[in-house]
Amino acid sequence: MEFFVKSGNPEKQRSACIVVGVFEPRRLSHAGELLDEMSEGYLSTLLRRGDIEGKVGQVLFLHHVPNVLSERVLLVGCGKERELTETQYKQIITKTIATLNDTGSLEAICFLSELHIKGRDSYWAVRQAVEAAKDSLYSFDQFKTNKENTRRPLRKLTFNVPSRKDLTRAEQALQHALAVAQGSKVCKDLANMPPNICTPLYLSEQAKGLAERFQKIECEIIDTAQMQALQMNSYLAVAQGSKNPAYMSLIHYKGGKEEQKPIILIGKGLTFDSGGISLKPGEAMDEMKYDMGGAASVFGAMQALAALDLPINVIGILAGAENMPSGNAYRPGDILTTMSGQTVEVLNTDAEGRLVLCDVLTYVERFQPECVIDVATLTGACIIALGHNISALMTPHKGLANELLNASNQASDKAWQLPMDDEFQKQLDSPFADMANIGGRPAGSITAACFLSRFTKNYNWAHLDIAGTAWKSGANKGSTGRPVPLLTQFLINRSESDQNESHI
Ligand code: BES
Ligand code: MN
Ligand code: ZN
Repeated sequence: MEFFVKSGNPEKQRSACIVVGVFEPRRLSHAGELLDEMSEGYLSTLLRRGDIEGKVGQVLFLHHVPNVLSERVLLVGCGKERELTETQYKQIITKTIATLNDTGSLEAICFLSELHIKGRDSYWAVRQAVEAAKDSLYSFDQFKTNKENTRRPLRKLTFNVPSRKDLTRAEQALQHALAVAQGSKVCKDLANMPPNICTPLYLSEQAKGLAERFQKIECEIIDTAQMQALQMNSYLAVAQGSKNPAYMSLIHYKGGKEEQKPIILIGKGLTFDSGGISLKPGEAMDEMKYDMGGAASVFGAMQALAALDLPINVIGILAGAENMPSGNAYRPGDILTTMSGQTVEVLNTDAEGRLVLCDVLTYVERFQPECVIDVATLTGACIIALGHNISALMTPHKGLANELLNASNQASDKAWQLPMDDEFQKQLDSPFADMANIGGRPAGSITAACFLSRFTKNYNWAHLDIAGTAWKSGANKGSTGRPVPLLTQFLINRSESDQNESHI
């Protein structure tokens, strides 16, 4: 489907369908009122008769409304005007798309992007509308023999903004939304892929694919032998129980000046996390294919970044490995010497993400990074703390925290900062090594971040735990594409801030 923005009067639109809002109780939106005048009160009569109340999720589809140039009018319930929330706005857009797709209009002009949401502007409204639309149209059906095809799908959707002076920003919103949506789509495709196909090698092939598609991207693959030479023993220990060897894939995006330090994004890429010898229980274990959701989101953000052609240098890293039990697997009790030289006593082979990431965090020192952000489905405790709608942010760096929380808010991709005070560090004490790989039940997400922090002393670093937000379980099981919007927004903001400004 193609998207457009414009600023026009509803009464002048000649389209297959014109979409306007109705507020509770039975009140037309501004665009609706204009159409009502044209139709000499046709719409308000329907409302008075009680055909639509205006509750969120209600729709009323009308044909041949008197004097209206468009063939159809779709009235969409928007709830109470002053109480319209961001979530409801996205629901309204999703419902609109579903209705339009069901009813055979090939194109439509939508005035719902004029709705007012507290603290948001028309840039936000257009961007979220396009992202929500794309999101609702996504399906992962490449392994289905019979695919469900919409008979007459919507081909062209135009979002209207109230005034001509909003148009430039609306165009930008559209451009950003399309890049984010495409990034989210490739993230979802990669994350939804089954673990017998999506192995660490497959991740590396996807990385190479990006380099082929974008001139500013180069790809570098570090295989097991190279990791051995680099002494990435902790990373390799996690992978040693699997027949699918580890690959670390580096995606170099060079959009800035050569001397400009790179921003580094590291994604946990456990293509399957069985728990290893500390085997997980069987229930929902299939969902541990999503343990590469961090890597998938880094991949998606790199795609969005390249599509936007931003003038910065970024390195995206997919830390691919598979955690399996076998005669060759690492075990509880093992002591590993990480690439940094620090030693780790393994108390649970299921706390593998941090063992992979710690060596990558050491590896990236060579790039003298501007900052490093790792993204990982790291702890079940994160779901207990924040649920399935909010990602956890942990960082010792105030400036980076503010930047990421800002990006999260701008992109409506929620995140919340958890503390990482020094007191938590002692939970990682080990009698035999420099540290243990687990810190006990209390504050499990924080102690995981504390573990990582020990490998990040030489640059500014932040950690996103996306265990709760990377995918959905149940009937609508699937990757969410998060946090591609947050990461992309962060990169957009960095590219817009003064090029010479250093972020200390
Ligand atoms: N990938 C899991 C975390 C996870 C679990 C994410 C469930 C989403 C849903 C991670 O590797 C893991 O197993 N973590 C353990 C750590 C524990 C052993 C300290 C966990 O959270 O149980
Ligand atoms: Mn695990
Ligand atoms: Zn894991």
